[in-house]
Amino acid sequence: MAEEAILGYLENHEEIPDSGQFATDNGLDHNDVVNVIKSLHGFLYIEAQDIKRETLVLTEEGRKYAEKGSPEVQLFLAVPEEGSISKEELQKLLDPAVFKIGCSQAAKNKWVQMGNQISRKVQHVEDRVKDLLLRIQDGQEPGKDDNNSLKARKLTALQTWKGYSVKRGPDYAPTRRRTATDLTREHLLGYAPIFTWGFVVHNNFNTLGLFLATVHLGQPNCGIYVAIHTPKKSLLAIIFKLIDIDAIEFIFPYAHDVSFATVLQMFIQVLPFVFLSILVVFLCLTFVHWSSIGCSFEEMPTNKYVESSFWNFDALFQPQQHPARDSHDTFFLKAPETTKQLPEDYVELVKRVHESGGYGSRGYGYEWKREEANKNLLRTHTTAISSRMLYALAQSFTPKKYFSIDRVFRNEAVDRTHLAEFHQIEGLVCDRGLTLGHLIGVLQDFFSRLGMDKLKFKPAYNPYTEPSMEIFRYKIMNYSYRCTACKVIGNLIRSIYASYHEGLEKWVEIGNSGMFRPEMLRPMGFSEDVNVIAWGLSLERWILGSSRKTLYALLELGRLRNASALSSVPSSVFEKQIPMSLCLGK
Ligand code: PHE
Repeated sequence: MAEEAILGYLENHEEIPDSGQFATDNGLDHNDVVNVIKSLHGFLYIEAQDIKRETLVLTEEGRKYAEKGSPEVQLFLAVPEEGSISKEELQKLLDPAVFKIGCSQAAKNKWVQMGNQISRKVQHVEDRVKDLLLRIQDGQEPGKDDNNSLKARKLTALQTWKGYSVKRGPDYAPTRRRTATDLTREHLLGYAPIFTWGFVVHNNFNTLGLFLATVHLGQPNCGIYVAIHTPKKSLLAIIFKLIDIDAIEFIFPYAHDVSFATVLQMFIQVLPFVFLSILVVFLCLTFVHWSSIGCSFEEMPTNKYVESSFWNFDALFQPQQHPARDSHDTFFLKAPETTKQLPEDYVELVKRVHESGGYGSRGYGYEWKREEANKNLLRTHTTAISSRMLYALAQSFTPKKYFSIDRVFRNEAVDRTHLAEFHQIEGLVCDRGLTLGHLIGVLQDFFSRLGMDKLKFKPAYNPYTEPSMEIFRYKIMNYSYRCTACKVIGNLIRSIYASYHEGLEKWVEIGNSGMFRPEMLRPMGFSEDVNVIAWGLSLERWILGSSRKTLYALLELGRLRNASALSSVPSSVFEKQIPMSLCLGK
């Protein structure tokens, strides 16, 4: 609905100046409109400019008084017209907060005589506060003094309203073009070769990527999917579901771009045989090489897209006012809206560390609310699972190494480097006496196994790690070759022997890492000398390079193409755990 309205309107008009006004005029929910704008913007149908406005709104307390009257008037009305009433009697008639505030305000206004017995000093009073609050509710601005006094009484607050102005984008069309089909369960389950390699051809963007993967039977389930697009833009085939890959270090991604025409020629003419031979030799070599290096990381059970805010944020010492917890950044669930089960003793410790700190920390000094922690969401990072695993581990500590590869969700405007749904590779090591040096060492080792030796680290901030580091790698450069054969073989050799190219001075951020803070670990039950080094990387960023269209193709393969699709997903989907086999990367 919102999508048709926006695209339809832009067919005949230059601009939608204000998405809020547009939503009201068209009887639409502004959140739906915003979600559609983000999605259309991602696919370049429209251009969108942020609009931010501060509006004065009533707080919960303010809303109560707007309905029932200010505490001072409620108190005044409870005092009899003639004679007096004892303090205790009056207290029984009123809500405790109303009584307390009412006493002080009514005395300040000289409406009542305070003492053990309370009596009226005036005959009539006017409820100015209530009138003001009602006017604000109607959208009127109060005078400066009134404004200040209401704010001081915490009855009003400023709320930032976020919206967009929208224009036609470079790929504008009055209706959305539907392209690739959804990835289905059958695709994922139907294909399980022992070892495989594949070409990823995104013909519509004229690129080809080559994937190689060695497979190790009998190892924990792990895998990756590869989709091939045909020239007709439909999803020809097929998902190579690789199972039984021995964890991450057995995946060799090569996403070098060569043109589609090149590939066709290569297939049709002479190259296939040579090419395949090289591949097979390479596969065997790498297989032997990698099977000799154990990594001993255990896989975390990530088959759970729905999380409570508690495990996704609170357990990670992420304050409840953090912008990431805004519905503009996170998909919150309508049904089931809240979680039912949390470990109560631990919740109490988390609450305490947020509010007043402990373990050498001052905490954030705000009032922690259980309702916020209960809210269900589509997990924004797989660190939610790390926090669950660590909590369980803390109950009987042994040194551990964990990893996971799975899907996460963010309410993002899609662009060249952002997706609303992507996969994270998460890892952590929990042991005594770990340092930042260990973290750097583990990451260097991890990436060198993936063929990337050149890494850079930059200090960063995460609420749950200190110190924190962003991880950058060199983007692989495209050579220009004169002949097709040189190009294909050259690219292949280059990808085997060099994961970066000095000539291209481009560093790409691929992830984030750090050492988990004591404020996170200690409430879980870890002792002071236990440290955890951890990292989270975007699979899409390093596997597929940063071609925007390639990212879009991935996005299209996802089941949740845009936020509005979410509300149509039946809640029963979320109440169940999702089978491991359906989680991509499994
Ligand atoms: N959760 C972080 C993210 O989503 C990644 C991360 C994991 C950072 C573990 C530090 C430690 O970007």
